[in-house]
Amino acid sequence: MSEPRPTRILAVDAEIPDPAAIDEAARVLNSGGLVAFATETVYGLGAVATDPEAVARIFAAKGRPSINPLIVHVDDVDRARACVSEWPAIADQLAAQFWPGPLTMVLPRSFAIPDVVTAGLPTVGVRCPALLVARNLIARCDRPLAAPSANRSNRLSPTRAEHVLADLDGRIDLILNSGPTSVGLESTVLDLSTDPPRLLRPGPIDAERLSEALGGHAPILPSTDSSTDRPSSPGQMPVHYAPRTPAYRVDSAEEYRDRPDLAGWAIIQFGPEPIEPDARTARQICLDSPERAAHRLYDVLHILDHLQPPGIVVVMPPDRPEWRAVRDRLLRATRPIAERPRSS
Ligand code: TXA
Ligand code: MG
Repeated sequence: MSEPRPTRILAVDAEIPDPAAIDEAARVLNSGGLVAFATETVYGLGAVATDPEAVARIFAAKGRPSINPLIVHVDDVDRARACVSEWPAIADQLAAQFWPGPLTMVLPRSFAIPDVVTAGLPTVGVRCPALLVARNLIARCDRPLAAPSANRSNRLSPTRAEHVLADLDGRIDLILNSGPTSVGLESTVLDLSTDPPRLLRPGPIDAERLSEALGGHAPILPSTDSSTDRPSSPGQMPVHYAPRTPAYRVDSAEEYRDRPDLAGWAIIQFGPEPIEPDARTARQICLDSPERAAHRLYDVLHILDHLQPPGIVVVMPPDRPEWRAVRDRLLRATRPIAERPRSS
């Protein structure tokens, strides 16, 4: 084992990135290093996707199981096409409509993409991020970048450089700090290698918009109950993206009121109508719309982990399409309250 090296941080504007900072980050990446950078969704931990040794370092730094494939980030369609062996017309249409942006398309991979990136799968996920700092970096490297979210495996995704540093300090070479991310929730993952396409991970681009773009053909949706389902895609584990604080979910405010043992806990709720404030609660957080919830969810969970209440109780948003992506992450971040003994 080599000695941990301190992680350097370079501040850079997200929309007007300083070319000198991009040059330096590209130099680190092209010599096999790891650089965390922002996208519009969450911070990614990048390595050159065509360099298997560099990609292996991502798995080591994150403690990520080698069966969990990485998304390959590109700066345009041409670079995406070089990563795949088939680029169907529908990929062109989806790219025209949603790229650059938070859509990952899974397609048969080309020989340019090594096994370690895809965990040996015959497919690869490709995505062109909207944030300019990410695309400038890929362009400057002149190579696709494999980049999972820049957190230790099974921890919360980072929406700020500070989150990356807290998880990965000494394990990666550089963080490009361009401030908080705007979308806040990981990209939608759509598998186009099957017919019909399958939604592997709900995200900022919802199934309804995808159906429209697919000419009215709805993609196959993942099961809504991820706690009992088998992972829909490798890496989509039932408990994932979890805070360190014990976190449980209830379906209604009544279910919460019925639990006096939750005194002193923080409560997170969703939708426009906050429940009656409760003297028992340490903090009450209300995220009123799906967009705001996506934007703030990980940040709020990071803050609560810092404040260390005895626990977090999440009042689940309704099981409706507009809340699908947020519900998916909440189902992975929490356990059902029934799993907590009342006496403890
Ligand atoms: O928004 C995002 O997608 C962020 C930013 C950094 O781009 N990245 C991200 O990566 O969330 P990660 O590694 O945390 O999640 C990647 C997801 C996993 O659920 C993985 O299983 C799935 O994409 N995935 C990647 N390649 C796949 C493939 N070939 N087949 C099926 N699923 C795949
Ligand atoms: Mg992740």
